[in-house]
Amino acid sequence: MHPSCSDDPPLLLALETSCDETAAAVIDRNLAIRSSVIASQFELHERFGGVVPEIASRAHVRRIIPVIDQALKQADVELKDLSAVAVATHPGLVGSLLVGLTAAKTLCAVLDVPLVAINHIEAHLYACRMAAARDVFPAIGLVVSGGHSNLYDCRAASEHVLIGATIDDAAGEAFDKVAKILELPYPGGPSIQTAAAGGNRNAFRFPRTFLKDDRLEFSFSGLKTAVLYEVSGQPGARHSPPPMTDRRRADIAASFQEAAVDVLVAKCRQALHRYNRRTLLVGGGVAANARLRERLSEMAEQERVDLQIAPLSLCTDNAAMAGIAWELLATGRTAPLDCDVRPGLIRRK
Ligand code: KG4
Ligand code: ZN
Repeated sequence: MHPSCSDDPPLLLALETSCDETAAAVIDRNLAIRSSVIASQFELHERFGGVVPEIASRAHVRRIIPVIDQALKQADVELKDLSAVAVATHPGLVGSLLVGLTAAKTLCAVLDVPLVAINHIEAHLYACRMAAARDVFPAIGLVVSGGHSNLYDCRAASEHVLIGATIDDAAGEAFDKVAKILELPYPGGPSIQTAAAGGNRNAFRFPRTFLKDDRLEFSFSGLKTAVLYEVSGQPGARHSPPPMTDRRRADIAASFQEAAVDVLVAKCRQALHRYNRRTLLVGGGVAANARLRERLSEMAEQERVDLQIAPLSLCTDNAAMAGIAWELLATGRTAPLDCDVRPGLIRRK
């Protein structure tokens, strides 16, 4: 059946340009993902070892229209078939967010359809709801990405109370920085995971900050520094560290990953107890980590908790997770065409 047939569920186009992925997706009102196109800018930022905001926004400008065209083509729909356009407007890099928002506003003005402003973090959590194909709220939500390590009490699809965050580096940032220290390729998360697969996770006892603390906060900067000292030696130390070998690199990667995962899993467990929730949602790029997924599954089984981790295709940045737009549309939460981006993290209490 062609999507424009009257019996078909309505369609929306979602755009995502909050960081370094230019993405577009077509999602129907039943939350079926009709297409999802992601143009990674990995090759543009690789030599800098991290995302360069100015390069990211310029690349979004060049790529946004081809990516939209491809998403429409893959879904076999035309612009006139769309009922709404959704776009991530917060949080993220200001120049990058502006490209997606400008494209979305233009489409809404021309097509005379509503604009939906998406909270990128809420969308990361909603990826779990989309994959579950059923209601998953209330729940505890963990978003672990390059920019965030946040715990939420998720009362409804779009009602998340921030209950914990990192006081320094985000989890993904720690993976990226440690990969750099170990001279592993960018982006660091997948490289650490690959290197760790051949290593001994008990070879080094790296710090697990706040593990025993009842605060729902993260800190990964001490862990990163401990890895740095193991690799380059303590400042002022009389002995230099052993030379780096593939074995040593694998052991450090595995021990670092285990320390990071220990803390993430422990804080989820604490949050589930404290807020008396029976469901755990986990999204964001670091949620792609195989060891984290394994350890979360073990914990969920012990605690008899319903664990919904975003599928790999919806962990790192994508536009399909913006299916949350249908929830916002259902309650009339559309955005005016003069709305703006909000780069900073919005704290709701
Ligand atoms: O959600 P995302 O694509 O972008 C942000 O919103 O930040 O997350 C990117 C982050 C990067 O720090 C990357 O190294 C990390 O997710 N990441 C991983 C893995 N895959 C991506 N970290 C650990 N293990 C992975 N397999
Ligand atoms: Zn993200």
